[in-house]
Amino acid sequence: MSVDHKVRDLTLAEAGRHQIRLAEHEMPGLMALRAEFGDSQPLKGARIAGSLHMTVQTAVLIETLTALGAEVRWASCNIYSTQDEAAAAVVVGPNGTPEDPQGVPVFAWKGETLEEYWDCTEQILTWPGGPGEGANMILDDGGDATMLVHKGKEWEAAGQVPPTTEEDSEEFGVFKALVRRTLAQDPQKWTTVAAGIKGVTEETTTGVHRLYQLAEAGELLFPAINVNDSVTKSKFDNKYGCRHSLIDGLNRATDVLIGGKVAVVAGYGDVGKGCAESLRGQGARVIVTEIDPICALQAAMDGYQVARLDSVVDQADIIITSTGCFNVVTAEHMQQMKNKAILANIGHFDNEIDMAGLARVPGITKTEIKPQVHEWTFEDGESIIVLSEGRLMNLGNATGHPSFVMSNSFSNQTIAQIELFTKTDEYVDEEGAPTVETLPKHLDEKVAQLHLDALGVELTELTKEQAEYLGVDVAGPYKPEHYRY
Ligand code: NAI
Repeated sequence: MSVDHKVRDLTLAEAGRHQIRLAEHEMPGLMALRAEFGDSQPLKGARIAGSLHMTVQTAVLIETLTALGAEVRWASCNIYSTQDEAAAAVVVGPNGTPEDPQGVPVFAWKGETLEEYWDCTEQILTWPGGPGEGANMILDDGGDATMLVHKGKEWEAAGQVPPTTEEDSEEFGVFKALVRRTLAQDPQKWTTVAAGIKGVTEETTTGVHRLYQLAEAGELLFPAINVNDSVTKSKFDNKYGCRHSLIDGLNRATDVLIGGKVAVVAGYGDVGKGCAESLRGQGARVIVTEIDPICALQAAMDGYQVARLDSVVDQADIIITSTGCFNVVTAEHMQQMKNKAILANIGHFDNEIDMAGLARVPGITKTEIKPQVHEWTFEDGESIIVLSEGRLMNLGNATGHPSFVMSNSFSNQTIAQIELFTKTDEYVDEEGAPTVETLPKHLDEKVAQLHLDALGVELTELTKEQAEYLGVDVAGPYKPEHYRY
């Protein structure tokens, strides 16, 4: 059996398999779902196009989806986030060899160019076989696979891809070129792909924003489940995951002592809360920037100074962006930063830091200290250190979140894929238009439940009388929809 793939090196598979085996032990939610649904095969017939960081934890997700009956093709959703040994292990599969791979098609390696990135994304949506045999589900992180289908179809209907302009980012220019090429090969490619898709499950805040925008504009082509806003995703992965992996990225990239330093965290949402806590845990003096008075007040009550970046940019030793917004750190800011200050982004896209603006500063030079760590030196000889070229640093400079927290996120992903694949018709509004919805609360609670034993948690059980007093069922759900945790 040959397995379609484009990865760094299949001989890394053994190293990847050892890591996957250890990760499985730390991912009780996914393993419980394998045990629960392995026989009934609820994803039989699902052909999932996955665009999500190709890490060891994602390998466990992929092999859970296939254990439940799905066929899968996978790409990473970031040019730097792939762990090459994990990608190799998934292609080779648990029973294959590098000479005779028997696993799942993967198109991902660490350090892709933008052209290669979009080629890989196209590959997951281009299945062998004829009409009706293409992808019928998308599992997305950040919305790039979903955008390719939507923009492809839109530009196909318009008869052309709009010309690339000066306002387009480099990446959007590359994206347009890819769509142009695919339409030259098959003028109906994206209409055909779109018609086959039953739905998408989206992993992250930024991708979810895009989905709600599409739904509001009446342009969403298929139903979506917002996995990010399961409580057991955003209040765990975004917060506790970043609390772990921000520091990991900083240490692997620079190994500077964090204690005593001044660190600025831009954005005090779920990600920012985790980042600020971990920097404080290392003894940094943390300053938060916010645009939302509620989050600003939360940061103040949590004991952080809240200031505008303009006021503190020249005091910071470390600046981290976690806003999901764009142009948060400008080239002007960067020129005011302290000599050798560290600048990094942990938000999904690379536009939080104006890297293009930095490259245009007169007289600037760039030195690679090591891959994904660059020193940018200004004309006066002072320099700043930028991680992962402004792309998300916990995956570019480290290996992302640890397995246990990703088990929560990916249990939500697996359940969302089953929901949407098996109950597609329920995810539309009265007029039959596709909707964006979160998973029902009892499934969110189930994901948490699956992770309690591993941590030795002893959960208190409501008596029947207590449940009646609170107006809930003994078996849950325990909170109303509007509860915020
Ligand atoms: P969120 O919406 O909870 O938090 C973002 C915060 O930034 C908000 O409180 C908002 O008011 C604030 N903000 C927006 N613009 C700002 C500006 N110009 N200056 C200062 N503050 C500003 O979103 P969440 O869940 O914290 O995610 C943030 C980003 O991180 C998203 O792009 C998300 O996709 C990404 N993400 C990255 C992860 C990683 O592993 N690297 C994990 C999870 C999410």
